[in-house]
Amino acid sequence: MSKNKTLRIGLIGCGFMGRTHSNGYNRIKNFFPELVYQPELKAVCSRNADKVKAFAEQWGYASTETDWKALIARDDIDAIDICTPNDSHAEIAIAAAAKGKMILCEKPLARTVAEGQAMVDAVEKARVANTVWYNYRRLPAVTLAKQLIDSGKLGKIFHYRANFLQDWTISPELPQGGEGLWRLDVDAAGSGVTGDLLAHCIDTAMWLNGGITDVSAVTETFIKERVHQASGKVQKVGIDDACIFHCHFENGSLGLFESTRYARGHKALYTFEINGEHASIRWDLHDLNRLEYFDHRDDSIVRGWRSILVTDGDQPYMKRWWVPGLSIGYEHSFVHQAADFLKSLETGEPCHPTFKDALETQKVCEAVIDSANTRSWKDTNVKGWLK
Ligand SMILES: NC(=O)c1ccc[n+]([C@@H]2O[C@H](COP(=O)([O-])OP(=O)(O)OC[C@H]3O[C@@H](n4cnc5c(N)ncnc54)[C@H](O)[C@@H]3O)[C@@H](O)[C@H]2O)c1
Repeated sequence: MSKNKTLRIGLIGCGFMGRTHSNGYNRIKNFFPELVYQPELKAVCSRNADKVKAFAEQWGYASTETDWKALIARDDIDAIDICTPNDSHAEIAIAAAAKGKMILCEKPLARTVAEGQAMVDAVEKARVANTVWYNYRRLPAVTLAKQLIDSGKLGKIFHYRANFLQDWTISPELPQGGEGLWRLDVDAAGSGVTGDLLAHCIDTAMWLNGGITDVSAVTETFIKERVHQASGKVQKVGIDDACIFHCHFENGSLGLFESTRYARGHKALYTFEINGEHASIRWDLHDLNRLEYFDHRDDSIVRGWRSILVTDGDQPYMKRWWVPGLSIGYEHSFVHQAADFLKSLETGEPCHPTFKDALETQKVCEAVIDSANTRSWKDTNVKGWLK
């Protein structure tokens, strides 16, 4: 295959994720120069013409659109990158697939399993490459955790524990809906912390430890009413502010998950710990280059938790970056996912998680909400390991 093919990107949404993805694409030519497909930032779309022009200038997009339908209709775009709130993922993805575009979609895949299933059907019918940005998998320490588990170092797994804690919605004065606050509006978001934060934990968990078969959940909405930015009226809050669930994994282990936006002092505390027959591992997003590892087979006089700074060239992704001992950050997970997607076009292998993989996470999220609403255990209908 000849070098220097381009993947012409059309990105929709100029917010937080629009920035992380644009940064990801811009780093490829320097840090993954050997990739046959290199991204070309062809167009960016957002509804405000001035804002989208400024964004295009800042990040290097060649043109702008204010209507995503005009963007997906263009012949000079190969891949659509969806960085908009959750209520638009299905409509955009289904329309983009019908136009034969490849799709990179932000998480959660959709608001519901039904929407997600329609998205999976659309990309499968159109046979277009697709991926969902569950980016935490591509932090080197998390990828190393996967390698350790797959190599059998932990032995049989008994426990999987994960938390995702924040504290930004505690004030009752905070409105819901609209720019910046769509996460508090159930119509836009689909759910609260379950789809926003636990979806990440569930994706990582089913990638590391296999399918979650059934769940029992409790949710709480601490602030029951908030002003809606669109109507200006006080409206009922429909999202879960906090969620705790426990579950069974297909491999026989037990899972315990907690997420909230009411844990004062915690900004984005994503942690997980996995306990196996021989060894345990734990990880913390606030110290994301580090993986902690305990191996019971160590000589008893030196047995203890090892603190592994994952920066060596033989550890996942790290030969791309600086020299051993020097850390990388959150933004690199998006560089890695962009690179893996481009590589997948070269090899013809899917870039996981695909829409189909992300639908399995959606099934667990929906079962969690359903379980909390009905105060009962729910089957997820998920089978097998996420790729
Ligand atoms: N992978 C991650 O870790 C991660 C982190 C944050 C957000 N997300 C996901 O990314 C998506 C976007 O979140 P965000 O934090 O970037 O939101 P944001 O509010 O910062 O940005 C959303 C952008 O989309 C634009 N937009 C909304 N509707 C649009 C439309 N119809 N056409 C064009 N533009 C439109 C908004 O104007 C805004 O620029 C969500 O699905 C969210 O769940 C993922």
